[in-house]
Formats: sequence, structure tokens, C-alpha cells
Amino acid sequence: MKNLIDITDFGVDELFSLIDTANDIIANPKKYAEACKGKKLATLFFEPSTRTRLSFEAAMLELGGSVLGFSEASSSSAAKGESIADTAKVVSCYADIIAMRSPIEGAALVAANNATVPVINAGDGGHCHPTQTLADLLTIYREKGTLDNITAGFCGDLKYGRTVHSLLGALARYKNVSAVLISPAELRLPDYVKQDLPNGMRLMEATELETAIPELDVLYMTRIQRERFEDKAEYERLKDSYILTADKLKNAKADMCILHPLPRVNEISVKVDGDGRACYFKQALYGKYMRMALILKLLKEAESDCSRENRFGENVIFGEHKCKNPRCATAVEQELEQAVKLCDNGVLRCCYCDKEI
Ligand code: NCD
Repeated sequence: MKNLIDITDFGVDELFSLIDTANDIIANPKKYAEACKGKKLATLFFEPSTRTRLSFEAAMLELGGSVLGFSEASSSSAAKGESIADTAKVVSCYADIIAMRSPIEGAALVAANNATVPVINAGDGGHCHPTQTLADLLTIYREKGTLDNITAGFCGDLKYGRTVHSLLGALARYKNVSAVLISPAELRLPDYVKQDLPNGMRLMEATELETAIPELDVLYMTRIQRERFEDKAEYERLKDSYILTADKLKNAKADMCILHPLPRVNEISVKVDGDGRACYFKQALYGKYMRMALILKLLKEAESDCSRENRFGENVIFGEHKCKNPRCATAVEQELEQAVKLCDNGVLRCCYCDKEI
């Protein structure tokens, strides 16, 4: 059965087909009004969310389906100590598809390995957020007409910013894409994310937004992820590292596209909202259409394939090595067998959170 846990679960052709469907939904919404009649989406949100949860729910309602779920851990049995695996097994009895957000890295993978319905990762800690990437790709495609030949700047918290990790993984597969990584030294892109990008991809690191901005076709601003910091004083020191103002935009290309997964906490001056290049509210809207396309795809595929896919692939060692990441599912989930993959560069990485062993 197909799930969406990591953006690389989908090939480039599948991403294009989702973009095509989303564009068709935008053009002909009535055609899809009953496409999921009788189907139920469960939204299991163990972490705060506005856009992701509500856009999933709006997506399912606009497809004629229904939604059930919870929006905080305290109102689910997780508060009593229920495991992710048991939650996934139980919710599979009530819903046809699950969207899950959790602060635990690898939580969606644990759910997918235990659910009997498709599981969508709606964000797992500081790891990845593939459905935000779907929204980002549709926005770039509609604004630029292509996903090739793009120089994209990623600015802010590249260490904990899961949306950045997933979008880089997607853009890396298009032709002639370069990325400029703009962050304070403390919040640089983690090595495990870099290692998954193809060797040929041009990556440049910068600490100043002003010097990087003139080159960019896309600028992806991000929030400093306060909830992931162990040292709150470090957050206070870094929180206003980058603020995009109308003044800084003077040196940007006239057709640069400004994205932000939102919520914004000071990274973009409100005055920028009126600039024609500001696309972040459109991006939030496009997220709904891509989630509609995704729900349609996964439900359709589940009808013809209800097999339980081995989500670990090849070169996996079970049980021998221990992941040391305290935010990993292996640190909290009852009797979860350690699974470690041997990567091309000889490095061993946890199958759940991708961190090096
Ligand atoms: C992002 C997230 O949750 O990772 N928000 C979203 O889903 N649109 C970004 C963030 O919280 O900063």
C-alpha cells in the first residue's frame, strides 16, 4: 500500500501527476465534489497546526468525504501512554486514510508500518514535512511555469525546519536547480539532509540574506523553530536573525517568488505582503489542492493494492545498532525494533529519523 512518509516516496512523474490533478481541481472543482463520498480521513495531530490540519480537512470535505480526529495530544489516548503503533491500528478500524503530525521523528513511519490504511506524514518533529513540499512545488510551478533551472534560497532555521528538508529533497530531482542555504552557523542544514542530495546539486552556504538575494528565483523564508531548541537562551539570541523587509527586496529579481510555509513570526515584514512577489498566502491555498490530489491518489491506489509494503527497502540491519537521537521514535515507542540502513557512503543511519548512528 502506498503512503507518503518522505517526499522521495514519490517519483518525479508522480509529483507531476499530482500537480496536474491539483491544477484540474482548481479549474473544475465541481468535477471532484463527490470523488471521496463515503470515505473518511482521520487527522491525528499531536502537535499544533492551523494550515496543515485545516487544509487536510477542507480538502476531504471538498472531495465529498468526511473527517474525524483530534488536534492535540492531550485529547487522545497518547496522553494515557498509548503507542503510535496501537493508535495507527485502532484508527485504521475507523478511517480510510490517516494524516498524522507528531513531534517524534519517524512517528509517521511507525504508523505506516502498523496501519491497514494509507498514512500521510503531516510533519514528524524536525525531520520532514512532505505535504508542505507538495504545496511549495505547486506554488513554484504555477508562478514560474517550471521546476527546472531554479536558484532557490532557503533562509532561517535550516537545522530544525522540516519543510526545508523535504523541499530540498524534492527540488534536487529537477534539472539545474541550485540552493543557497542562508542561516546562522548554529542552524545550518544538517549533514544527514545534505548527504541525501545528489552530488551534482549546487549548494552554497551564506549567512547574509542581503548578499544572496539578487541571485534568487525563489526565496523560502522560515521561522526559527522555538519548540525544538533545548537551550531557550539560544532561541532568544537567534530568533530575529533574518527579517525580510521591502528595503531588502530592492535588490531582488522582479519576478522572484517569496515563499514561507507559515506561521510567520517576524521573518517577513507585513509590508511585504502587498508586493506582487509575495506568494505565501497563495501557497497556503495551493496546499489544500495538492492535499486533495494526494488523498485521491492514495485512496485510489489503496483500492487496487492493500498489501503491506516493506518500508525499509534493502541494506537494512535490524536490532544490532541503537539510534542515539532522543527525539526518534525508537527512543519512545514500546519494543520498536531498531532498524539501521547502510548508505552508499558507508554511513549507518537510523531508518526512522535518518540520523547517523
Ligand atoms: C510548518 C511546520 O509545521 O513545519 N508549518 C506548516 O505546516 N505550514 C512550518 C513551521 O511551523 O514553521
